[in-house]
Amino acid sequence: MSSQTAQELGYEIHRLSPRLHCLRPHAAVSGESFARDVAFTLGGSSKSINPKWFYDDEGSALFGQICTVPEYYITVTESSILSRIGGELGSFLARDTRLVELGSGLSSKTRLILDVMEGVQDEMEYLPIDISDVLAESCHGLLDDYPRLEITGIIDTYHGGLEFLSTLDERPNLIAFLGSSLGNFDAGEGELFLKKIASCMGERDMLLLGLDLDKESGVLEAAYDDTQGVTARFNLNVLTRMNRELGANFDLSAFAHRAKYNGSARRIEMYIESLADQDVAIPAAGAAVRFGRGELVHTENSHKYTIPRIREMVREAGLGTDAIWQDEENRYALVLCSKQGRPRRT
Ligand code: TRP
Repeated sequence: MSSQTAQELGYEIHRLSPRLHCLRPHAAVSGESFARDVAFTLGGSSKSINPKWFYDDEGSALFGQICTVPEYYITVTESSILSRIGGELGSFLARDTRLVELGSGLSSKTRLILDVMEGVQDEMEYLPIDISDVLAESCHGLLDDYPRLEITGIIDTYHGGLEFLSTLDERPNLIAFLGSSLGNFDAGEGELFLKKIASCMGERDMLLLGLDLDKESGVLEAAYDDTQGVTARFNLNVLTRMNRELGANFDLSAFAHRAKYNGSARRIEMYIESLADQDVAIPAAGAAVRFGRGELVHTENSHKYTIPRIREMVREAGLGTDAIWQDEENRYALVLCSKQGRPRRT
């Protein structure tokens, strides 16, 4: 990537160290668009908040904490599958593969993939894409541990990051999309996004998808409403962010976190419930919002999958499934896919 290309695409380039560059869109996901977005989504009769606003510094730190609460089995399960399959995953990768990660967050699982690459590569390249500023911080730690690693971090939405991918050289990409983040799209949107990823993939690119499998509702509801209340704090933090950044006056004690399993749609639905009839001013959004007692503000979905459904989705996106790995209890799946189905390197 030339710096000219990055600039043409509207990115500012920050050179944080000789091996770490971060790109950030000029028209950053700014206070102004936050205000406009919430004015719109809280303005209608059915209220919602876009989950991309969860990830300020506090939200990113809380999400990191969610990944360690005992009820949230997703992160540990995914990590244990990744560590188990390392060598096998490596056998699918060309030696010059670049790792691209969508929603890299704190990049903790990334290390398990970098370990695989380190065994076979001289020059390692990592391109994390994340909406949160923590991206830069997590990358600093990686540089220390992987001396041959070069990183270009993109602080942007998934869509912005994917556009950027198409401007890169011919090196094959392994696109990692972990943590069941595909499940966080609205119904039907996840399938569309998978098609979008597929449309950005070249013949030599591969996609590693981590997806949570459907299971008993009690296990799922506990995972999204832990007894320590970390998930509740994470969900409600978006109100604190509005207070700070948009001058709003949400009283946090008058709202509560809710997580409900919707069996027919196969998803956990997350809400913020208003515990009273109340009016909240959001000055920067030019809005005054009335909440009724018991009213639910939808914040996020987390879809759950079955193996046949995953295979179908991958096929409908125009990809082939090269491998599916699961944990022993079939709680979670890692799926490797590509345009044509790739032979393993022997
Ligand atoms: N990708 C994660 C998941 O669906 C995101 C997540 C975990 C999440 N816990 C949450 C999102 C709580 C909102 C609230 O499991």
